[in-house]
Amino acid sequence: MIKGYFGAFGGQFVPELLIPPLRELEDACANLLPARDFQEELGGLLRDFAGRPTPLTLCGTLSLELGFSLWIKREDLLHTGAHKMNNTLGQALLAKRMGKSRLIAETGAGQHGVATAAAAARIGLGCAVYMGAEDVERQSSNVERMKFLGAEVIAVRSGSRTLKDAINEALRAWIVEQADTHYCFGTAAGPHPFPTLVRDLQAVIGVEAKAQIRERIGRLPDAVVACVGGGSNAIGIFHPFVADTQAKEVRLIGVEAGGSGEPGCANSAPINLGRPGVLHGQYSMLLQDAHGQVLPSQSVSAGLDYPGVGAEHAYLASEGRAEYKIVYDDAAVRAYLRLSEKEGIIPALESSHALAWVLDNPQAFAQGAQVIVNLSGRGDKDMGIVARHLRAKGGAA
Ligand SMILES: Cc1ncc(COP(=O)(O)O)c(C=O)c1O
Repeated sequence: MIKGYFGAFGGQFVPELLIPPLRELEDACANLLPARDFQEELGGLLRDFAGRPTPLTLCGTLSLELGFSLWIKREDLLHTGAHKMNNTLGQALLAKRMGKSRLIAETGAGQHGVATAAAAARIGLGCAVYMGAEDVERQSSNVERMKFLGAEVIAVRSGSRTLKDAINEALRAWIVEQADTHYCFGTAAGPHPFPTLVRDLQAVIGVEAKAQIRERIGRLPDAVVACVGGGSNAIGIFHPFVADTQAKEVRLIGVEAGGSGEPGCANSAPINLGRPGVLHGQYSMLLQDAHGQVLPSQSVSAGLDYPGVGAEHAYLASEGRAEYKIVYDDAAVRAYLRLSEKEGIIPALESSHALAWVLDNPQAFAQGAQVIVNLSGRGDKDMGIVARHLRAKGGAA
């Protein structure tokens, strides 16, 4: 494969002024990241600060109802409440070793912003987080958390005032501030080397899940399911299965957000409903109009509300190695409530999309199958949104 590409997808489509910091980061990925002392320090932080390994939990009640074993990988139990911390600790440590004194980041649901702010505080770096003004309103508790963790939160009022616009502003800021600042990109998308760097930092989820299921049932699972926003939690849990020729039979299922599902309404499902195009420095699947203009995305879940997707997912879809499904807002909210009531775990609305596809499509799995869903985050941040969604629907999702 060509460097920075996954088949036809990927690349480095950026203004010339961003090439120097991307080259510097490529060098750091090649030379600093694999070094044994770096990996030891990161492993120690993931264990002692973030709480790895996270458990793999069997959902007893739901498994009985479904007729197959439903396991959940508990990234909701990671420090700050989502998988994002695997990536931010790695990038913060890398930035420190590159001699940077400050991180900037974008955030949608606020989880990546909180995880960046926490990693920056722990490692001793300054931090500024760009967040769409609409997301600042719908994820206000995470805005407060970032501020308590010492980060500056910059509300972005341009465009659709969501994640896409926050990334645009952060990229613009990086052009000016690159000498002392690392852009801690939050998902497995963007220009090379971010898709590979973020995937490699998130692959710890899949490495653990694969070992844990083997230990529990003595074999690999039949399917691994994860929600796809930019694609980091999904590629993190998929990667050790993609890389393993013995794991060819394991179904990899990514779930995109379909939004409200009403005719003509926006969605966040670029693999299913988009076309190839360039956004935020990479060539990948993208929601766009007939003239190639990026279409606004929409989802009840702020973390999935993005018109693009990581290049490696576009590639896995084109190769048929992974399947990509759509789940609508109502189904995600139903799954949020069902896991909470039946298993005592409140899932993030993002993760609820992955769960919903499994709960609503039991016929897709054989009786006695072993299915792992990546529970990418906890759902406390979404309680207000779910309550409002239920009120708007007259009490039922
Ligand atoms: C809990 C959670 N899950 C999933 C996502 C989607 O991101 P990604 O596709 O990079 O995992 C987010 C994004 O904010 C999130 O907060």
